[in-house]
Amino acid sequence: MKRPPLETVCRKIASRSAADLRADAPRDARCIWNAEFFGLHRSRFWRSANEAAREALLRRCTSNLLREALGIERQAMDYCARRVLKAASLLEKQVYCLLAAEEARHYHWLGSLLPETATADSPDAFACFLARLVMEGTPLAQSYLLQIILEGWGVSHYQRLAAASLDPAVGRVMSGIARDEVLHYAAGVAHFDAALLTQDERDFIRTALAELCTMLASGPLAVLRETEIAAGGFAPAERKQALEDLTDASLSVARLERLARFVAHKGMAEEAAWVRDRGLLTPFASEASLRLYEVV
Ligand SMILES: [Fe+2]
Ligand SMILES: [Fe+2]
Repeated sequence: MKRPPLETVCRKIASRSAADLRADAPRDARCIWNAEFFGLHRSRFWRSANEAAREALLRRCTSNLLREALGIERQAMDYCARRVLKAASLLEKQVYCLLAAEEARHYHWLGSLLPETATADSPDAFACFLARLVMEGTPLAQSYLLQIILEGWGVSHYQRLAAASLDPAVGRVMSGIARDEVLHYAAGVAHFDAALLTQDERDFIRTALAELCTMLASGPLAVLRETEIAAGGFAPAERKQALEDLTDASLSVARLERLARFVAHKGMAEEAAWVRDRGLLTPFASEASLRLYEVV
Protein backbone atom coordinates (compact mmCIF):
# COMPACT_ATOMS: atom_id res chain seq x y z
CA MET A 1 0.00 0.00 0.00
CA LYS A 2 1.25 3.49 -0.89
CA ARG A 3 1.92 5.50 2.25
CA PRO A 4 -0.76 8.25 2.58
CA PRO A 5 0.39 11.50 4.17
CA LEU A 6 -0.68 11.84 7.80
CA GLU A 7 -2.53 15.08 6.87
CA THR A 8 -4.87 13.12 4.62
CA VAL A 9 -5.68 10.57 7.31
CA CYS A 10 -6.19 13.35 9.87
CA ARG A 11 -8.62 15.19 7.58
CA LYS A 12 -10.62 12.01 6.94
CA ILE A 13 -10.93 11.09 10.62
CA ALA A 14 -11.72 14.66 11.69
CA SER A 15 -14.44 15.10 9.09
CA ARG A 16 -16.35 11.87 9.48
CA SER A 17 -19.35 11.77 11.76
CA ALA A 18 -19.86 9.04 14.33
CA ALA A 19 -22.64 6.54 13.84
CA ASP A 20 -25.38 6.88 16.43
CA LEU A 21 -25.52 3.45 18.04
CA ARG A 22 -26.44 4.58 21.53
CA ALA A 23 -29.55 2.74 22.52
CA ASP A 24 -29.64 -0.05 20.03
CA ALA A 25 -27.77 -2.81 21.75
CA PRO A 26 -29.40 -5.34 24.07
CA ARG A 27 -27.81 -6.06 27.47
CA ASP A 28 -28.58 -9.72 27.08
CA ALA A 29 -25.66 -11.21 25.15
CA ARG A 30 -27.19 -14.66 24.95
CA CYS A 31 -27.97 -15.04 21.29
CA ILE A 32 -25.48 -12.86 19.47
CA TRP A 33 -23.53 -15.69 17.77
CA ASN A 34 -24.59 -19.28 17.17
CA ALA A 35 -22.90 -22.61 17.95
CA GLU A 36 -21.46 -22.89 14.41
CA PHE A 37 -19.65 -19.57 14.86
CA PHE A 38 -17.74 -20.98 17.86
CA GLY A 39 -17.37 -24.49 16.38
CA LEU A 40 -19.38 -25.86 19.31
CA HIS A 41 -21.64 -27.91 17.05
CA ARG A 42 -18.70 -30.24 16.31
CA SER A 43 -18.06 -31.07 19.98
CA ARG A 44 -19.37 -34.24 21.62
CA PHE A 45 -20.49 -32.25 24.66
CA TRP A 46 -22.72 -30.04 22.50
CA ARG A 47 -24.33 -32.97 20.76
CA SER A 48 -25.20 -34.67 24.07
CA ALA A 49 -26.19 -31.52 26.02
CA ASN A 50 -29.77 -30.46 26.69
CA GLU A 51 -31.17 -27.11 25.57
CA ALA A 52 -30.44 -25.34 28.90
CA ALA A 53 -26.79 -26.51 28.97
CA ARG A 54 -26.32 -25.47 25.35
CA GLU A 55 -27.74 -22.02 26.01
CA ALA A 56 -25.56 -21.53 29.11
CA LEU A 57 -22.42 -22.50 27.15
CA LEU A 58 -23.30 -20.26 24.22
CA ARG A 59 -23.91 -17.35 26.60
CA ARG A 60 -20.48 -17.84 28.21
CA CYS A 61 -18.70 -18.03 24.83
CA THR A 62 -20.50 -14.89 23.69
CA SER A 63 -19.61 -13.07 26.89
CA ASN A 64 -15.93 -14.11 26.54
CA LEU A 65 -15.78 -12.79 23.01
CA LEU A 66 -17.29 -9.45 24.03
CA ARG A 67 -14.99 -9.15 27.06
CA GLU A 68 -11.98 -9.85 24.83
CA ALA A 69 -13.09 -7.06 22.46
CA LEU A 70 -13.70 -4.73 25.40
CA GLY A 71 -10.17 -5.45 26.72
CA ILE A 72 -8.72 -4.60 23.30
CA GLU A 73 -10.58 -1.28 23.13
CA ARG A 74 -9.45 -0.44 26.66
CA GLN A 75 -5.82 -0.96 25.67
CA ALA A 76 -6.46 1.04 22.50
CA MET A 77 -7.54 4.04 24.63
CA ASP A 78 -4.32 3.78 26.68
CA TYR A 79 -2.28 3.45 23.51
CA CYS A 80 -3.73 6.59 21.95
CA ALA A 81 -3.23 8.55 25.18
CA ARG A 82 0.44 7.58 25.26
CA ARG A 83 0.87 8.49 21.62
CA VAL A 84 -0.74 11.91 22.25
CA LEU A 85 1.87 12.61 24.93
CA LYS A 86 4.75 11.32 22.78
CA ALA A 87 3.61 12.98 19.54
CA ALA A 88 6.43 14.48 17.48
CA SER A 89 4.14 17.13 15.97
CA LEU A 90 0.77 18.81 16.49
CA LEU A 91 -0.54 16.92 13.49
CA GLU A 92 0.34 13.59 15.14
CA LYS A 93 -1.20 14.81 18.40
CA GLN A 94 -4.48 15.61 16.61
CA VAL A 95 -4.55 12.22 14.92
CA TYR A 96 -4.16 10.30 18.18
CA CYS A 97 -6.67 12.51 20.02
CA LEU A 98 -9.19 11.76 17.27
CA LEU A 99 -8.39 8.04 17.38
CA ALA A 100 -8.68 8.04 21.20
CA ALA A 101 -12.21 9.43 20.94
CA GLU A 102 -13.15 6.63 18.54
CA GLU A 103 -11.63 3.94 20.78
CA ALA A 104 -13.57 5.35 23.75
CA ARG A 105 -16.74 5.16 21.66
CA HIS A 106 -15.98 1.54 20.74
CA TYR A 107 -15.47 0.74 24.42
CA HIS A 108 -18.76 2.38 25.29
CA TRP A 109 -20.67 0.52 22.57
CA LEU A 110 -19.21 -2.88 23.53
CA GLY A 111 -19.65 -2.18 27.24
CA SER A 112 -23.36 -1.62 26.68
CA LEU A 113 -23.64 -5.25 25.46
CA LEU A 114 -22.33 -6.70 28.72
CA PRO A 115 -23.50 -6.54 32.34
CA GLU A 116 -21.49 -3.99 34.34
CA THR A 117 -19.76 -6.69 36.43
CA ALA A 118 -18.18 -8.20 33.30
CA THR A 119 -16.51 -4.92 32.33
CA ALA A 120 -14.47 -4.98 35.57
CA ASP A 121 -13.02 -8.48 34.96
CA SER A 122 -9.27 -8.97 35.06
CA PRO A 123 -7.61 -8.77 31.63
CA ASP A 124 -7.12 -11.93 29.56
CA ALA A 125 -3.80 -13.08 28.06
CA PHE A 126 -4.29 -11.10 24.85
CA ALA A 127 -5.10 -7.88 26.73
CA CYS A 128 -1.95 -8.40 28.87
CA PHE A 129 0.08 -8.83 25.68
CA LEU A 130 -1.36 -5.58 24.30
CA ALA A 131 -0.68 -3.78 27.58
CA ARG A 132 3.01 -4.74 27.33
CA LEU A 133 3.20 -3.42 23.76
CA VAL A 134 1.54 -0.18 24.87
CA MET A 135 3.89 0.28 27.83
CA GLU A 136 7.17 -0.92 26.31
CA GLY A 137 7.08 -0.26 22.55
CA THR A 138 8.53 2.77 20.81
CA PRO A 139 6.09 4.79 18.64
CA LEU A 140 7.55 3.30 15.46
CA ALA A 141 7.32 -0.31 16.66
CA GLN A 142 3.81 0.40 17.98
CA SER A 143 2.61 1.84 14.66
CA TYR A 144 3.65 -1.42 13.01
CA LEU A 145 2.48 -3.90 15.66
CA LEU A 146 -0.62 -2.21 17.04
CA GLN A 147 -1.92 -0.30 14.03
CA ILE A 148 -0.73 -2.00 10.85
CA ILE A 149 -0.93 -5.58 12.11
CA LEU A 150 -3.52 -5.59 14.89
CA GLU A 151 -5.87 -2.83 13.77
CA GLY A 152 -5.51 -4.06 10.18
CA TRP A 153 -6.41 -7.52 11.41
CA GLY A 154 -9.17 -6.02 13.57
CA VAL A 155 -11.05 -4.71 10.53
CA SER A 156 -11.83 -8.20 9.23
CA HIS A 157 -12.32 -9.55 12.76
CA TYR A 158 -15.09 -7.01 13.46
CA GLN A 159 -16.53 -7.52 9.98
CA ARG A 160 -16.74 -11.25 10.71
CA LEU A 161 -18.45 -10.56 14.06
CA ALA A 162 -20.91 -8.24 12.28
CA ALA A 163 -21.67 -10.72 9.49
CA ALA A 164 -22.33 -13.62 11.90
CA SER A 165 -24.32 -11.60 14.46
CA LEU A 166 -27.87 -12.84 15.01
CA ASP A 167 -28.81 -9.46 16.42
CA PRO A 168 -29.04 -6.61 13.87
CA ALA A 169 -28.24 -3.95 16.51
CA VAL A 170 -25.03 -5.73 17.51
CA GLY A 171 -24.21 -6.22 13.84
CA ARG A 172 -24.41 -2.43 13.39
CA VAL A 173 -22.08 -1.87 16.36
CA MET A 174 -19.50 -4.33 14.96
CA SER A 175 -19.76 -2.82 11.46
CA GLY A 176 -19.33 0.68 12.92
CA ILE A 177 -16.15 -0.37 14.72
CA ALA A 178 -14.77 -2.10 11.59
CA ARG A 179 -15.43 1.06 9.57
CA ASP A 180 -13.47 3.18 12.10
CA GLU A 181 -10.56 0.73 12.32
CA VAL A 182 -9.85 1.15 8.60
CA LEU A 183 -8.59 4.68 9.27
CA HIS A 184 -6.73 3.59 12.44
CA TYR A 185 -4.81 1.18 10.23
CA ALA A 186 -4.27 3.97 7.69
CA ALA A 187 -2.87 6.26 10.40
CA GLY A 188 -0.34 3.52 11.28
CA VAL A 189 0.63 3.15 7.63
CA ALA A 190 1.05 6.93 7.30
CA HIS A 191 3.31 7.12 10.35
CA PHE A 192 5.38 3.95 9.87
CA ASP A 193 8.64 3.91 7.93
CA ALA A 194 10.52 0.60 8.17
CA ALA A 195 13.77 2.27 7.15
CA LEU A 196 13.83 4.15 10.49
CA LEU A 197 13.64 1.03 12.69
CA THR A 198 16.65 0.38 14.93
CA GLN A 199 17.92 -3.15 15.60
CA ASP A 200 16.43 -2.98 19.12
CA GLU A 201 13.04 -2.11 17.63
CA ARG A 202 13.29 -5.01 15.15
CA ASP A 203 14.17 -7.36 18.04
CA PHE A 204 11.18 -6.07 20.03
CA ILE A 205 8.95 -6.64 16.98
CA ARG A 206 10.16 -10.22 16.47
CA THR A 207 9.54 -11.12 20.11
CA ALA A 208 6.01 -9.69 19.88
CA LEU A 209 5.32 -11.47 16.57
CA ALA A 210 6.38 -14.82 18.04
CA GLU A 211 4.01 -14.29 20.96
CA LEU A 212 1.15 -13.21 18.72
CA CYS A 213 1.58 -16.19 16.36
CA THR A 214 1.69 -18.57 19.34
CA MET A 215 -1.65 -17.25 20.57
CA LEU A 216 -3.22 -17.67 17.14
CA ALA A 217 -1.62 -21.08 16.46
CA SER A 218 -2.86 -22.59 19.70
CA GLY A 219 -6.47 -22.82 18.53
CA PRO A 220 -9.77 -22.23 20.34
CA LEU A 221 -8.53 -22.71 23.92
CA ALA A 222 -11.04 -20.22 25.36
CA VAL A 223 -13.93 -22.15 23.81
CA LEU A 224 -12.38 -25.40 25.05
CA ARG A 225 -12.21 -23.98 28.58
CA GLU A 226 -15.88 -23.01 28.53
CA THR A 227 -16.82 -26.43 27.15
CA GLU A 228 -14.81 -28.16 29.86
CA ILE A 229 -16.45 -26.06 32.58
CA ALA A 230 -19.88 -26.88 31.13
CA ALA A 231 -18.99 -30.60 31.02
CA GLY A 232 -17.80 -30.56 34.66
CA GLY A 233 -14.19 -31.37 33.69
CA PHE A 234 -12.47 -33.63 31.15
CA ALA A 235 -10.06 -36.54 31.45
CA PRO A 236 -6.86 -35.81 29.42
CA ALA A 237 -8.00 -37.90 26.44
CA GLU A 238 -11.44 -36.25 26.44
CA ARG A 239 -9.81 -32.81 26.55
CA LYS A 240 -7.61 -33.60 23.55
CA GLN A 241 -10.60 -34.96 21.66
CA ALA A 242 -12.68 -31.90 22.54
CA LEU A 243 -9.97 -29.52 21.30
CA GLU A 244 -9.67 -31.47 18.04
CA ASP A 245 -13.45 -31.41 17.60
CA LEU A 246 -13.61 -27.64 18.23
CA THR A 247 -10.70 -26.81 15.93
CA ASP A 248 -11.37 -25.93 12.30
CA ALA A 249 -7.95 -26.62 10.74
CA SER A 250 -8.59 -24.62 7.57
CA LEU A 251 -9.80 -21.61 9.60
CA SER A 252 -6.64 -21.75 11.76
CA VAL A 253 -4.42 -21.77 8.65
CA ALA A 254 -6.42 -18.92 7.08
CA ARG A 255 -6.12 -16.78 10.24
CA LEU A 256 -2.33 -17.22 10.39
CA GLU A 257 -1.95 -16.51 6.68
CA ARG A 258 -4.05 -13.35 7.06
CA LEU A 259 -1.76 -12.26 9.87
CA ALA A 260 1.26 -12.98 7.63
CA ARG A 261 -0.05 -10.57 4.99
CA PHE A 262 -0.04 -7.71 7.52
CA VAL A 263 3.39 -8.73 8.85
CA ALA A 264 4.76 -8.49 5.28
CA HIS A 265 4.15 -4.72 5.18
CA LYS A 266 6.45 -2.66 2.97
CA GLY A 267 10.02 -2.84 4.30
CA MET A 268 9.24 -5.78 6.63
CA ALA A 269 10.03 -8.69 4.30
CA GLU A 270 12.78 -9.90 6.64
CA GLU A 271 10.36 -10.16 9.55
CA ALA A 272 7.80 -11.91 7.33
CA ALA A 273 10.44 -14.46 6.25
CA TRP A 274 11.61 -14.89 9.86
CA VAL A 275 8.08 -15.67 11.05
CA ARG A 276 7.58 -18.22 8.25
CA ASP A 277 11.03 -19.85 8.60
CA ARG A 278 10.50 -20.37 12.33
CA GLY A 279 7.29 -22.29 11.64
CA LEU A 280 5.27 -19.64 13.48
CA LEU A 281 2.55 -19.70 10.81
CA THR A 282 1.75 -23.39 11.35
CA PRO A 283 -1.16 -24.24 13.68
CA PHE A 284 -0.08 -26.29 16.71
CA ALA A 285 -0.89 -29.96 17.07
CA SER A 286 -3.38 -30.45 19.90
CA GLU A 287 -0.69 -31.74 22.32
CA ALA A 288 1.32 -28.53 21.91
CA SER A 289 -1.79 -26.35 22.31
CA LEU A 290 -2.77 -28.16 25.49
CA ARG A 291 0.62 -27.38 27.03
CA LEU A 292 -0.55 -23.74 26.98
CA TYR A 293 -3.95 -24.57 28.43
CA GLU A 294 -4.73 -23.98 32.07
CA VAL A 295 -6.84 -26.83 33.31
CA VAL A 296 -9.99 -25.52 34.99
FE1 LIG B 1 -11.27 0.27 18.38
FE1 LIG C 1 -8.51 1.22 16.69
